[in-house]
Amino acid sequence: MRIEPSGQTLGASVFDLDLSQPIDDATFADLARALGRYGALCVKDQSIEPAAQKAFASRLGTLEINVAAGPYTVPGHPEVMILSNVVKDGKATGLGDAGQGWHTDMSYSKEIAFANVLYAIEIPKRDGKPLGSTLFANMHAAYDDLPSDMKESLKGKVAIHDFEKFWNMMRARPGSTRGPLTPEQRAKKPPVPHPIFLTHPITGKPVLYCNPGYAMHIEGMDKKKSDETLAFLFEHQLQEKYQFAHEWSEGDVLIWENIGTLHNAVADYGPDEPRYIHRCQVMADKVFEPGFLAV
Ligand code: SIN
Repeated sequence: MRIEPSGQTLGASVFDLDLSQPIDDATFADLARALGRYGALCVKDQSIEPAAQKAFASRLGTLEINVAAGPYTVPGHPEVMILSNVVKDGKATGLGDAGQGWHTDMSYSKEIAFANVLYAIEIPKRDGKPLGSTLFANMHAAYDDLPSDMKESLKGKVAIHDFEKFWNMMRARPGSTRGPLTPEQRAKKPPVPHPIFLTHPITGKPVLYCNPGYAMHIEGMDKKKSDETLAFLFEHQLQEKYQFAHEWSEGDVLIWENIGTLHNAVADYGPDEPRYIHRCQVMADKVFEPGFLAV
């Protein structure tokens, strides 16, 4: 296996690794360390079945069956969600607008998501250039650069995250086919608190764990101060210097971790430009050794 860093704030490409086969423990540990260091790893030139995708992803933690997945999963594999804008016989084949806005997956849940493993089957292109990139932002760097008085004043504070915030932002977009959440879906995902600063499970370093997609307010702070503080954090964490764009190729397996990064799926392609991806989402329930990433 060869790991080639992007040279930017996040991101690395991985070559000479075949995820259709089980990988040995030493290689897995190298990959997990690289995931902590680079946030998003693209394993190039893969050809994998849903079972192999699940087998690899589940080494990072338990696989989630997403509340929004509904019918958009691979038959026989409810843990493999289909992200697709392809319409067949008048029916959507997958969730077409997943992740189109800055967020981190499952911060709306008591048990948060650790990682995602996406396999690109079809990627839209225009004039030979890939569309539908996934953007990432570096929350190790965003934490490091916060003013020290803010690091002090927000230490131990929690933000309330709500699944419905992002859902309704998506619904409000022109052409959205999302309906309101059903009372059952809502009941499964009530608002939850999470510390604004977390210790990253691989690097052992502090990260800013707060995102514009789901964070609603800061517990115990009056509304005005909370709104101002969140607005500051959202603007701070999305500065261009913290961002990295993954441009997809078919056969990419993109692995990213959600605790030290935010992401945003760019909706710059049309309904006649197919994008079709299989996604596994991994819960943050695996314990890595503290300081697993020796840097
Ligand atoms: C996601 O947020 O998991 C979707 C990302 C993408 O489709 O690029």
